[in-house]
Amino acid sequence: MPSRDDVHYFGAGPAPLPTAILEEASKVILNYNDSGVGIAEISHRSPEANAILANAKSGLRQLLDIPDSEGPDGYEILFLHGGGSGEFSATVYHMVSVWVARQLRQLKESGVKEDNIVEKLREVLEKKMRLDYLVTGSWSLKASQEAARLVGIDGVEFQSTPSGHNLIADMSSNFLSRPINVRKHAAIFGGAQKNIGTTGITIAIISNTLLPPHTEMPDPKIMRKLGLPIGPIVLDWPTIAKNNSLYNTLPIFDVWIASKVMDRLLHNSSGSPRISTQEAESNKKASMLYSALDNSSGVYSVVPDKSVRSRMNICVRVKGGDADAEKAFLKGAESRGLMGLKGHRSVGGVRISNYNAVPVEAAEKLTRYLEEFAKEQQEGGANGSV
Ligand SMILES: Cc1ncc(COP(=O)(O)O)c(C=O)c1O
Repeated sequence: MPSRDDVHYFGAGPAPLPTAILEEASKVILNYNDSGVGIAEISHRSPEANAILANAKSGLRQLLDIPDSEGPDGYEILFLHGGGSGEFSATVYHMVSVWVARQLRQLKESGVKEDNIVEKLREVLEKKMRLDYLVTGSWSLKASQEAARLVGIDGVEFQSTPSGHNLIADMSSNFLSRPINVRKHAAIFGGAQKNIGTTGITIAIISNTLLPPHTEMPDPKIMRKLGLPIGPIVLDWPTIAKNNSLYNTLPIFDVWIASKVMDRLLHNSSGSPRISTQEAESNKKASMLYSALDNSSGVYSVVPDKSVRSRMNICVRVKGGDADAEKAFLKGAESRGLMGLKGHRSVGGVRISNYNAVPVEAAEKLTRYLEEFAKEQQEGGANGSV
């Protein structure tokens, strides 16, 4: 039976976590802070839980340089349930409400009478309400499909990064893997299970401009009259913000793991931005893997175009998608303790997920295997045996 030390895991999420944090977790799950009670058993409203939550928020603020003011320039950090997919829906519910709130204010300011407001709103809604999606892959496609399901929009595909306000990013895959300019975004969200922690919490960073008191959310009665969806309360950003992420029972153990991952990144980094050490490591791992893939004389083909390659998810076909060659590649990888490389069930092939906790040694070992396997295939091909 392999031990943890024998294996390097490249799964697409849940992803690996630092062993030292899991070792500490195995202790606190039994007895947190010598209290005799395990961390998964303490109340999410206890002082201990509050301290864990505050530490996680402060870590994230420092790592991503998230503005901490109550004014319109500030951002709230929310911990929620529902994963990235839950946030696909939350985004639609919330942005549609914000849009209605802004139209409502404008109509009132331009003197439209209370009795005519809903009718006027309906007119503007049909003409102007838009949610645009940059569809770059299967997850953004799913996000846009959820928007179409909820409010019936048409998907729009951009050829370059859009600019402008109300830009919302799903960073499930690359959270905390490089510095980002939070100020350019209205909201950012991502599930914790790839780069930040265990499956169970989702993190959202929301501009104060989208929240009360800077935006007065419309009365649900108006939304109903307009035939627009009203989201479940557990996905409602203003409710979660008002309750310091404790509207309902938050899995504090998962927040603890996330706070430990963030502490580790903070201690490992120096200078500003704090996340640049992680970025350098992610770049190093990705570039050694891509270099082995690109120098394989065609044994491997990287799926996306070079200009849009991801450092975090590297999707590859072996010998143009030859099923036997891909099977042989995966079998050889597993025999070397290189696990979790099988491609997505809908796509096949090989997928190397290079999330934050994948160590450089793991990427080095995989790079060596990629080179060895390619060499064998080339020699076999030259001998006519493959
Ligand atoms: C970019 C991205 N967004 C969203 C999701 C869905 O996340 P969840 O399973 O937490 O709903 C994933 C999952 O792999 C993802 O990679």
